[in-house]
Order: sequence, then structure tokens, then C-alpha cells
Amino acid sequence: MAIPKDEAEEKEVKKPAKKVSKKKDDEPKLMDLPGVGPGAIAKLEAAGIFDLMGLAVLTPPALSEMAGMGEAAARKAIQAARKMMNLGFQDGLEYVEKRKEIGRITTGSKNLDNLLGGRGIETKAITEAFGAFGSGKTQLALSLAVGVQLPEEQGGCNGKAVYIDTEGTFRPERIRQFAEGIGANPDKVLKNILVARAFNSDHQMLLLDKVSELIKDGEPIKIIIVDSLTAHFRAEFAGRGQLADRQQRLNRYLHQLQKLAEQHNLAVYVTNQVMSDPAQLFGDPTKAIGGNIVGHACTFRMYIRRGKKDSRVVKLIDSPNLPDGETVIMIDTDGLKDVAV
Ligand code: GTP
Ligand code: MG
Repeated sequence: MAIPKDEAEEKEVKKPAKKVSKKKDDEPKLMDLPGVGPGAIAKLEAAGIFDLMGLAVLTPPALSEMAGMGEAAARKAIQAARKMMNLGFQDGLEYVEKRKEIGRITTGSKNLDNLLGGRGIETKAITEAFGAFGSGKTQLALSLAVGVQLPEEQGGCNGKAVYIDTEGTFRPERIRQFAEGIGANPDKVLKNILVARAFNSDHQMLLLDKVSELIKDGEPIKIIIVDSLTAHFRAEFAGRGQLADRQQRLNRYLHQLQKLAEQHNLAVYVTNQVMSDPAQLFGDPTKAIGGNIVGHACTFRMYIRRGKKDSRVVKLIDSPNLPDGETVIMIDTDGLKDVAV
């Protein structure tokens, strides 16, 4: 099963009029701003600014320098961006109302759901799991792809999953086992998971556009899984001199994921590798790939490591509203299980 690849493109070729009407519903873009042309946009993108939010928070001199435009024009563009985005305050109660829209997806383990605030991972947020090979990041991804399909009262979002597989480790057999574990029909569950293999980082980025198309076509996608977020970027930009370029691309990718999560009220789960940090003299020298860029973009970060007797210790790091803590789970044939802590 794969994301229908060229369907959207074909449609656009046949009916060019549709593209125009589609664009109207979209949010305003950089090119909608006065005085911001293709040349300026290219420069801004090179500097890591891809959308109105990025531009709206700049100062006129900064924008002027980045985009090679006059300061007066820069001021005008910034004002226009702020107006279009309706940048301002909302009161605490309005904020509470917004938070009510957030959906949750069970991981299959009560312990882990509790660690994440009681009901699993949240929509409108990026949740990252990092850890060594075999720590269980992919198993958790598979479990979430099943969990998202459950009705709300059973811990899901009644939706479908998109699974972007960069490593070729998606296993339908495991999905079947997890589905049977919760008494669901394995074929139906598999049908609700749209899997695409990403062959390189460009392809991985392109697939997010495809996800947008799927959502526009009415697919009720409630989770995007990227397993792994960083592997291609890490392999392709391996040299020291390429680090800045890699980080910029990763930043852009995460930005796009965040936008999808926010706009469509869906969850994003990404996995990440670790490396050993030679600068760390005491404690665990394991560090997630991607540095601050990934750290800041992900709302919830989990560090998974092997524990006693084949268990897995999951540690929550840097959550905005939850205490840091850890719990223990077990990977079983039919799903993730709790271990008494
Ligand atoms: P990398 O992708 O290599 O970085 O690792 P990962 O963190 O994604 O590891 P993954 O989630 O693939 O976990 C693999 C581990 O899950 C195995 O070593 C097993 O311990 C466990 N596992 C996988 N399949 C089964 C199964 O069918 N039954 C049981 N009991 N355990 C399983
Ligand atoms: Mg894996």
C-alpha cells in the first residue's frame, strides 16, 4: 500500500483551473506580501525563513539585509505579514478553549500514556522518541499507527495514519499482531495506514506535500509518523562543512510537520537516532541527533533505553506542562505492555 503517487499531479494537469481555486483557501504566503518578489523569497528561504510567521517576527533592518530590499519596503512587508497573521494576544480562557480541540492517541501502554499526561501523545504537537537501535522506537510507531484508529473513548482519534518509512522497517505482520492484540480486524487496520518509503531526504520532504494533498482530498489523517526523522539527513550531509546545510533542511522539514500538525489537528511522531557525545564526562553520554533544532521543534521528547529483563525504560524530557519522569514498558508480540514500576 502506498500513497497514491501521481494522482494529484495528474488532476492538476487535466484541470488547471482547480489549482487556482485551491490556492484561494490556502493561508497567505510570503509571495502575497507587498514588495516581496521571487528573488527576495529565494534569499529568505536560504536564510531559513519560509512563511509569514518567520518574516513577521523580523525587524526591518534584518529583513532588509536578508532579502536585499530597502528598509522602508521591509517595514511595509513586516506590517502586512503581521496584519495577515492576526498576530496578537488571546486571553487564557480562549487558550483553554483551543486546547480542548487537542486529541490524544494511546501508545498501548497505560504506563507510557500516563508519562505523556494520561492519554498518550497529543495532536498539534510533535513527539519524538530517540534511543539506540533496538530500543523500541519503531515498535512504538507501529503501535501508534494502530492506536490512532480507535474511537476517542478507547484512546484514539478515529483516524488514519501516514507512515513515512525511511529505513524499510515498516512491518505489516507486526501491525496485524498489534491489531489482534486489541481485538481489531487486521485487514481493516492495515487499510487505514498509508505507507510510503522515502528514499532520500528530498523524497522525504516531497512526501509531506503528498500528505497535504491526501488531507485536502478528505483522508482523515490523524497521525504522521516519520521513522526515522534524521537518518537520511545524517547520511547525506555527513561532512563537517555540511552541518549548517543539514540543520537548515531539518529545520525546514520540522517546520512543515509543525504546520501540518497545527492546521489539521493531527499528531506527529518522529524517531531519532543517538550518538555518543565525547564532551560528556559524567552520566549518560548518549545524545539525540539534530541538536537544538530538533530539540526545540519537538514538544515532547522521549528517550528510550533497554532496561532489566528485556524491558524498556522511557524517560520524558523537556515537556512544556509535564514533570520529567520515567516509566518502564515491555515490547510484547501483541503490543506494548506495562511493567510494574
Ligand atoms: P532502530 O530502528 O534500529 O534504531 O531501532 P528501534 O528503536 O526502531 O527498534 P525497534 O522498535 O525495531 O525494536 C526492536 C526490538 O523490539 C527487538 O529487539 C525486540 O526486542 C522487540 N520486538 C520486535 N518484534 C517483536 C515481537 O514480535 N515480539 C516481541 N516480544 N518483541 C519484539
Ligand atoms: Mg526503527
